[in-house]
Amino acid sequence: MARLDAATSCTRCELSLTRQRVVIGSGEVGAALVIVGEAPGRSEDEGGQPFIGRSGQLLFRLIGEEIGLTREECYVTNVVKCRPPKNRPPRVRELRACRIWWDLQLAQMSPRVIMTLGNTASRAVLGTDAKIGDIHGRVHEVDGRVVIPTYHPAAGLRAGPNVVDVMREDLRKIRQHLGTS
Ligand code: URA
Repeated sequence: MARLDAATSCTRCELSLTRQRVVIGSGEVGAALVIVGEAPGRSEDEGGQPFIGRSGQLLFRLIGEEIGLTREECYVTNVVKCRPPKNRPPRVRELRACRIWWDLQLAQMSPRVIMTLGNTASRAVLGTDAKIGDIHGRVHEVDGRVVIPTYHPAAGLRAGPNVVDVMREDLRKIRQHLGTS
C-alpha cells in the first residue's frame, strides 16, 4: 500500500501536469476536528497548504468564533490534493484517483467530527449525490465516524450573510459534538 508521503510526487491524474504543489494537509493528526474541502486554489497551489486564501480566512474566523479552535488545532485537507486549472470543479476521475490519499489520511486519524465543506467534499466523503442545502448541519455516520457537512466558505464569500449565518449554526452543532460547549 502507498504511503502518504508518496502523494508529494503523485501522477495519478492529469492535475499533476498543471499543479505547482501537491497540497496534502496541515495541522494536528490527532485533532478532534478534521476539515475537508474540495481542492486547492491559487494561493494553496503556491503556498502548499490548504485554505490559506480568502476562503480559509473566513473559515478559520468562523471556527474561532463559534468553536474556539485555531487552524493549528484542527487537521485540514481537501478531497483533491492538486489545483484544477482555473479552479474548475474536480472531475470524477480526478476524485477517484485522489481518493487513496484521503483514505490513507483518515486511517491515521480518529477525529470526533469530520466537517465537509460544500457539495464536492460532502458527496465524496459521504458517498452521496445529495445537495449541500439538504444535508448541511446534519449528523451523518460513515464507517463509524461522525461527518457533519456545511457550506463551502467560498459560498459564504459569494452569497454573503445568509450563508455565513447558516455556517455559524452548523458550526455550533459541530461544537456540541466535539464536547467543547
Ligand atoms: N477551497 C478549497 O476547497 N480548498 C482549499 O484548500 C482552498 C479553497
